[in-house]
Amino acid sequence: MKQVLCVANQKGGVGKTTTAVHLAAGLALKGDRVLLLDLDAQNNASSVFPEAASETDNDVFSIFNEGVSAKDVLRPTRIPKLSLLPSSPKLAQVDVLLSGKLDGFFALKEGLEKIMEDFDWVVIDCPPSLSLITMNAFVAANGLIVPLQVSKFSLDGIEAILEAKAATVKRYNPGLKILGALLTLYQARTTLSQTVVPMIAEHLRLFDARIPPSVAVEEAHLLNRTLYEYQPKNKASKEYARFTDEVYSLG
Ligand SMILES: Nc1ncnc2c1ncn2[C@@H]1O[C@H](COP(=O)(O)OP(=O)(O)OP(=O)(O)O)[C@@H](O)[C@H]1O
Ligand SMILES: [Mg+2]
Repeated sequence: MKQVLCVANQKGGVGKTTTAVHLAAGLALKGDRVLLLDLDAQNNASSVFPEAASETDNDVFSIFNEGVSAKDVLRPTRIPKLSLLPSSPKLAQVDVLLSGKLDGFFALKEGLEKIMEDFDWVVIDCPPSLSLITMNAFVAANGLIVPLQVSKFSLDGIEAILEAKAATVKRYNPGLKILGALLTLYQARTTLSQTVVPMIAEHLRLFDARIPPSVAVEEAHLLNRTLYEYQPKNKASKEYARFTDEVYSLG
């Protein structure tokens, strides 16, 4: 195992799922063994790999509910070396299930223990909240990646993530590091970008890759394809490949 990576931002619609999917697929295309873990009840990451996410009770919820190992619920995808641990609509129950339990923050980490030898990377797609589920991902991970859309509000959100990360490091997982922020839906030549990006960089290291807006992203999602499969020459696809290279070099 090289790293367990958590893609998180409590803000909705900033590109977490798109980033987790293309990082996981990109690392697998480089030949590493990758597990994509969908921790969002919305099921968006899993839906890109319908061949691995068919209806069954055997999903990520059983890790939280029954202490099942990730080994027993992961499935292969059409991309060689990429496995999926599919989401569950029942994930919404996890907060109630675990709240008050002393070891409630460690369920996911324990669920992942037996697969550590089988994979080089685990990439976790988090829900848009700093809930108990996201905290489980923070406890299980070594590296945190924060997708950010450039706006005044993205600045307001950074503080909450940094606080949650600091609390996790202090109490539960001293090994957790922020690898950096990835700018998504990024338009270079706007006044907004030129003003806000330096302000973001005061708080977080920025990856060099910056993902531009592209209709190909929505189209690929619609067709249950990754950008690498749908339009590899697209600018967003190339930037996701560049981002993958940056993360790979940290492995
Ligand atoms: N570079 C891009 N260009 C165009 N559309 C994009 C891009 N990145 C993401 N999107 C679209 O923006 C929407 C939100 O993206 P995504 O689902 O990845 O964000 P998210 O942070 O995971 O959202 P949520 O918080 O709901 O889980 C999706 O409809 C996605 O297709
Ligand atoms: Mg998402």
